[in-house]
Amino acid sequence: MQSEELQSLTASEPLSLEEEYEMQQSWANDEDKCTFIVLDKHKFYLTRDEVESMIGDVNLFLDSGNVGEINVMIAEKHAQGKGLGKETVVQMIEYGCEVLKIEKIIAKISSSNRRSIGLFEKLGFIKESDNSVFQEITMGKNAQNEWLRWLRSEKTKQKTNSMSSVDRYSDE
Ligand SMILES: CC(C)(COP(=O)(O)OP(=O)(O)OC[C@H]1O[C@@H](n2cnc3c(N)ncnc32)[C@H](O)[C@@H]1OP(=O)(O)O)[C@@H](O)C(=O)NCCC(=O)NCCS
Repeated sequence: MQSEELQSLTASEPLSLEEEYEMQQSWANDEDKCTFIVLDKHKFYLTRDEVESMIGDVNLFLDSGNVGEINVMIAEKHAQGKGLGKETVVQMIEYGCEVLKIEKIIAKISSSNRRSIGLFEKLGFIKESDNSVFQEITMGKNAQNEWLRWLRSEKTKQKTNSMSSVDRYSDE
């Protein structure tokens, strides 16, 4: 990933092509990592070309205590702000909780990344800590059944209405 803006927003280091391949290999093989590539489904239906349709990725890093650290990127500018980041996060949370049996999700986000913080706040995550050295906050959410039911119902709404119709989650 060569974009300096994306490197800064995702707290990533620039990698050589060889390092990128090594990283992909490690994400594919390591049992504590799970990754999916996000495709623009409309483009994919039209072209059937996976590479052409790639718009981002979503990763879950699993620790030994059933906590998953999620990391999302909708890299293509034309695909941002259309509800796809939120839909991607919801899908990964569902997969993490139902298949990988995660009980809590956390996200480490650059303190200046208002869009990403807004996304996770909307899904009910709350700020748990603030690291001023790395200028990064950690947001977290326990995966209670009631919250998972809410996420599922919002996903159904997204399919029947517009992509951006997710209400804000509140524990109260
Ligand atoms: C952050 C990112 C994943 C968001 O995905 P997206 O598809 O652009 O965002 P969505 O359209 O799904 O918006 C999701 C929610 O984010 C919030 N949001 C979006 N833009 C916002 C902004 N400018 N300010 C505050 N909140 C904002 C809103 O709550 C929005 O929900 P709403 O549209 O129902 O109001 C995406 O923009 C991205 O990958 N950016 C570059 C890399 C990055 O920052 N990754 C995150 C690292 S943790």
